[in-house]
Amino acid sequence: MTRYRKRSFPTSKVRRFLEPGPIVLVTSAYRGERNIMTLGWHLVLGFVPSLVGCYIWDENHSFSLIRRSRECVINVPTVDLVDAVIGVGNTHGPRVDKFARFGLTPVAASRVGAPLIAECYASFECRLVDTSLIRRYSLFVFEVVKAHVATSPRYPTTVHYRGDGVFMISGRNASYRRRFKRVNL
Ligand SMILES: Cc1cc2nc3c(=O)[nH]c(=O)nc-3n(C[C@H](O)[C@H](O)[C@H](O)COP(=O)(O)O)c2cc1C
Repeated sequence: MTRYRKRSFPTSKVRRFLEPGPIVLVTSAYRGERNIMTLGWHLVLGFVPSLVGCYIWDENHSFSLIRRSRECVINVPTVDLVDAVIGVGNTHGPRVDKFARFGLTPVAASRVGAPLIAECYASFECRLVDTSLIRRYSLFVFEVVKAHVATSPRYPTTVHYRGDGVFMISGRNASYRRRFKRVNL
């Protein structure tokens, strides 16, 4: 095993090494308006109930739509949507229909008002269940109340943001299942 020689590194940039989750497109809707934002900063907070925390900057238009409606859909795109991922992230909501601009198709959800994105591999309908960390950390805690996932491929090629305009594109999968303690699977 390699022993790395390390140097001091700016703490403001450690995020580059800690952003492994797939980039997602978060859809929202409130009083006839709908929107999409690109989001990389999310974390799983529990699986029964299924909880996900999302950092949503308060200057994003999605922030107010989601806080007011208390709902959203977390959509997981694959690498073929990378242009839309960047375009949506570069665009600020109120006056733009990002579905039309980036060729994405809204589909009615079953449990929330925000739409699913037809072109995304998976879509998770979410309700805001804890607002206590929003003011301090812009952290929204959602419960996934309904999940829609494509049946194939089993492991989609997702994109993972590494900061500084660089994406990691998911690649090889290797199963070490037999070596795992059951509780950690
Ligand atoms: C790769 C990428 C990752 C991003 N991750 C986040 C994030 O985790 N949280 C956030 O608030 N904004 C994030 N953004 C910025 C928003 O997507 C961007 O501000 C967007 O325009 C917000 O749209 P809105 O103002 O219409 O809601 C990201 C953008 C890109 C391109």
